[in-house]
Amino acid sequence: MDVTIIGTGYVGLVTGVCLASLGNKVVCFDIDRDKISKLKEGRVPFFEPGLQDLVKEGMAKGNLRFTVELSDALQDASFVFLCVGTPPTEIGSADLSFIEEAVRQIGLTLDHDIYLVTKSTVPVGTNRRLLSLVSEALEEVGRDPRQIHVTMLSNPEFLREGSAVDDFMKPDRILVGADERWGADILLRMYAPFECPKVIMRLESAELAKYTANAFLAAKISFINEIAEIAEKTGADIREVAEAIGLDPRIGSKFLKAGIGYGGSCFPKDTRALYQIAGSAGLDFHLLSAVIEVNNRQRDRFVARIRETLGDLTGKKIGIWGLAFKANTDDVRESSAIDIVRRLFAEGADITAYDPQGMESARKMLGDTIQYASDPLSAAAGADALCVLTEWPLFRSVNGVKLAEVMRGTHVFDGRNVLADLRMETYGLTYHGIGLCKNLPL
Ligand code: UGA
Repeated sequence: MDVTIIGTGYVGLVTGVCLASLGNKVVCFDIDRDKISKLKEGRVPFFEPGLQDLVKEGMAKGNLRFTVELSDALQDASFVFLCVGTPPTEIGSADLSFIEEAVRQIGLTLDHDIYLVTKSTVPVGTNRRLLSLVSEALEEVGRDPRQIHVTMLSNPEFLREGSAVDDFMKPDRILVGADERWGADILLRMYAPFECPKVIMRLESAELAKYTANAFLAAKISFINEIAEIAEKTGADIREVAEAIGLDPRIGSKFLKAGIGYGGSCFPKDTRALYQIAGSAGLDFHLLSAVIEVNNRQRDRFVARIRETLGDLTGKKIGIWGLAFKANTDDVRESSAIDIVRRLFAEGADITAYDPQGMESARKMLGDTIQYASDPLSAAAGADALCVLTEWPLFRSVNGVKLAEVMRGTHVFDGRNVLADLRMETYGLTYHGIGLCKNLPL
């Protein structure tokens, strides 16, 4: 099938590259010339495991190409996937200006029937509005929207950064929102190689389902983080509690890791946007506002603990392991780690950080407010305390004896419980995890 991807961010590029690897003819469009010229050379502008190889493979097979010309991108298109960002506005709602402009440009350029498929996360009712926008744009250039048929479909994405290719190729479900079943059925043909539940629903339900999924997962994280605090104060251990409840299939074991809270380009944005969507419908989503508040409090609590332990942070040397919002990505958007680093800096700490992939993107946000180390031990060298802020498995392989040797102080604050079972005390270090019991396990 002939596929056009509008927007080559995480969702767009992964979708395009994976659809090309399934044998479709894919052209990816972006207004960012720099990005497209990198991609034309086979270079992926961000770190995502497996993506680079698939880009090269798709291009070599002639199934994948990149362009900055919309007319070129649309000329053979049957399916046009909207993968444009919907960043948060100041009040937390989704900024739809980019996707609306993209759709208008499509309407001004289009000369044949297409299926217009929204992958971007958009508030309920947006797809219907986009359909009107495309019709208006067609009319603007003298084309009859009854002659050029645009079938609007919502196809929310559930892929996670760091495992995006795998998530796309092995989905646990595929959702298609449509006005009529036949349109959804045609899109589902593209997903025929995937054996997973494929559900067709109203456009509005698909839109709301996407937000609900992210908000629910965020709620799981905030819930376990609150329980972690209770655990800490009562002598329980959050890892044991999470394991126990996770064995109940109605709860499930995933997204029950306590820590410094969720970050990234999706959960913070989507929880706030869903709160706004509820507000626009005249509802006050109490539970969701608590989820957001607890997430912010996790960061406060973490910094407070460091302050309580070390005293005034002015001039204290703090080593940081991890800046990305989670492991396996270089993405630092709304990263809890970045937020904590900023708070420590604001309190006068002298910070040296290391992240296996996120250094470059972190530097763009933090500039020279901190120092950057080339490996974990150098980040910890001379530090009064070490903070582990991203769950990179690499941190577990650092030699404990050497770590204790290079540090000036002894405190290790682990915001992800990555080192929890490594018995840091045996190296003379004082370990502080989240929701952990200090006593040895049974
Ligand atoms: C999330 C969803 O998981 C995807 O299904 C969705 O498609 C995507 O948003 C999106 O809307 O595009 P992602 O933002 O890549 O994916 O990251 P997650 O793996 O969900 O992690 C989000 C945050 O939660 C990270 O900061 C992670 O460290 C934190 N987290 C996750 C925890 O603190 N505890 C956990 O148990 C799990």
